[in-house]
Amino acid sequence: MPITISQKVRKLRPSASIAAKQKVDELRAQGVEILDFCLGEPDFDTPDHIIAAAYQSMRSGDTHYTGSQGTPALRQAIADKLKRDNDISVPASQIVVANGAKQLIFDIFSATLDAGDEVIIPAPYWVSYPDIVSLNGGEPKIVACGPETGFKLTPDMLEAAITSKTRWLIINSPSNPTGAVYSRAEWMALIGVLKKHPQVAVMTDEIYEHIAFEGVKNLSPMALEPAIADRCVIVNGMSKAYAMTGWRIGYAVCPPELVKAVVKLLGQSTTCACSFSQSAATAALNADQACVDEMVAIYGKRRTAIVNGLNAIPGIRCTAPDAAFYVFPDIRALLNSKTADGKLIATDLDLVSYLLEEAHVALMDGTSYGLPGFLRLSFAASEAVIAAGTDAISKAVAKLQPADTLSTNEAAQ
Ligand SMILES: Cc1ncc(COP(=O)(O)O)c(C=O)c1O
Repeated sequence: MPITISQKVRKLRPSASIAAKQKVDELRAQGVEILDFCLGEPDFDTPDHIIAAAYQSMRSGDTHYTGSQGTPALRQAIADKLKRDNDISVPASQIVVANGAKQLIFDIFSATLDAGDEVIIPAPYWVSYPDIVSLNGGEPKIVACGPETGFKLTPDMLEAAITSKTRWLIINSPSNPTGAVYSRAEWMALIGVLKKHPQVAVMTDEIYEHIAFEGVKNLSPMALEPAIADRCVIVNGMSKAYAMTGWRIGYAVCPPELVKAVVKLLGQSTTCACSFSQSAATAALNADQACVDEMVAIYGKRRTAIVNGLNAIPGIRCTAPDAAFYVFPDIRALLNSKTADGKLIATDLDLVSYLLEEAHVALMDGTSYGLPGFLRLSFAASEAVIAAGTDAISKAVAKLQPADTLSTNEAAQ
């Protein structure tokens, strides 16, 4: 009898961004030069002082298991950061460290969801949320938030989505894929609804917190409204701000009971996050933050380049994101056009395939993020790649026969 795969894993969709990366790697292995805009991680190397701290930590013997909750030094550095950046005072005992924000999102849902519990997920969403919820027995309740609301959930949409089974609202601000950030007024309006529904907790995924432009500041409901602070959870990590994706350090701020439950899960699964990655993260948080500002300044220039480059292409509309390193252009005007060899571009997925084949440009489809008709491009790529990529997209799009010409021609026949 061969080994059989469980129903729950059979139902699980592979991560769309990881699948896209595999496709790019395969094409590159065949010698095709690809302009890659799929990257969900900084293209910078980890700053030297952080690497030096890891090395020193290894040399001094930090090569053993740590406590499952994370080292006291790292949790204190996170508590200090929360005070400094977010105006949140929590003891280190309410902080839990794991192998990335993704593991914490997974473990928090695992620790709190029972079969049929609903989690409200505004779309477009980070690709992993619905699958993490389903895998843990929950029901993702997707609420489409289009460009009309700046890709954000409004109080009316939230009110309409809440049922007696709702356990969580998860908000990713700044957002992957749109870069949208909820303002104080927008948060307060959502908090007004949450106050009426005490069974609903709110998880904020703030992993892109520091990558923000033109003075935009990340705000956490935990800091904004003490009345709901005990049902707020913050998930954050080192991956994006410090270019530390491979070090796998994320953290969460949780109420004490939830900390205990997550630590129990960690103790029975991965034991702890890597010891010297934790030392490196401690050094990163306690050091001068100039390295973050330097990277953000570079992302800022790329943001201008990619937004201008895309907006110069007829049929593509791109708003400048407030934060993160993604743009989410509207390509609905290009749908129903045809390629030079007569293939119909019916969906954003078709356009993604066409651009990969024709322009050798890799990007993500909006459908994977829960909002068809859009594309996601990461600008964690050099300005040279952005210039070459937008030029290649422009040339490929110029070859499409537009939908309106098609209907006029077809009507004439
Ligand atoms: C919105 C969002 N949350 C969480 C993560 C995962 O972060 P980590 O590397 O800390 O697991 C990502 C990574 O792409 C992300 O985009």
